Amino acid sequence: MGQLRDRKHRHDAFFRKARNEGFAARAVYKLEDIDRRVRLFRAGARVLDLGCRPGSWLQYAVKAVGPHGKVVGVDRLPLPAPVPGAQVIVADIYTLSDEEILCGLAAYDVVLSDMAPDTTGIRATDQARSALLVEEALARAERLLAPLGCFVAKIFQSPEVEKLRKRLVRHFTDVRLLKPEASRQQSTELYLVGKNFGTL
Ligand SMILES: C[S@@+](CC[C@H](N)C(=O)[O-])C[C@H]1O[C@@H](n2cnc3c(N)ncnc32)[C@H](O)[C@@H]1O
Repeated sequence: MGQLRDRKHRHDAFFRKARNEGFAARAVYKLEDIDRRVRLFRAGARVLDLGCRPGSWLQYAVKAVGPHGKVVGVDRLPLPAPVPGAQVIVADIYTLSDEEILCGLAAYDVVLSDMAPDTTGIRATDQARSALLVEEALARAERLLAPLGCFVAKIFQSPEVEKLRKRLVRHFTDVRLLKPEASRQQSTELYLVGKNFGTL
């Protein structure tokens, strides 16, 4: 009974929609929702997607930036299937140099992070690991974003969220904390969003 409920829960309307529309994961609807509210992408933009597996955000970004854009993903695990139009680096983010992440580009216009730690079930540990991943993503964004760039990062709710939000406020004119509709109600995840980098 429990198993049946679990399966039903995992295979919700967003899961089915993703499968029908050819997206690698239901997570795409979180990015779509954030993009609808904030307008992250423009044609020709350069996008970095940290924690990109299985690839639904890459699929969305490739379409959003069009043929003159560039989409680079990083994940410590290989994708189950390639995403046409995206370049993927298989590595742990903590081991990569900025130069390796740039892949020959001068900067990125959008830095996304949907990275999630392996959860232990110990809330404080999971929250701390999630915050560390966001700190790493934000440190990369601070070095690699072009002026007016955007930043999005998933974070588990904790006291660190407010500290990181304040750090974003130092760099972005428009900072928001969003809970996309596709994010499960029982999940403590939120998305920190910054727009207009380096214009303060
Ligand atoms: C929720 S999934 C991302 C889903 C993706 N946005 C999509 O739409 O398909 C989180 C990913 O973060 C990756 N990840 C977690 N820690 C990482 C790290 N230190 N370096 C690189 N990838 C990491 C995991 O391997 C996992 O694939």
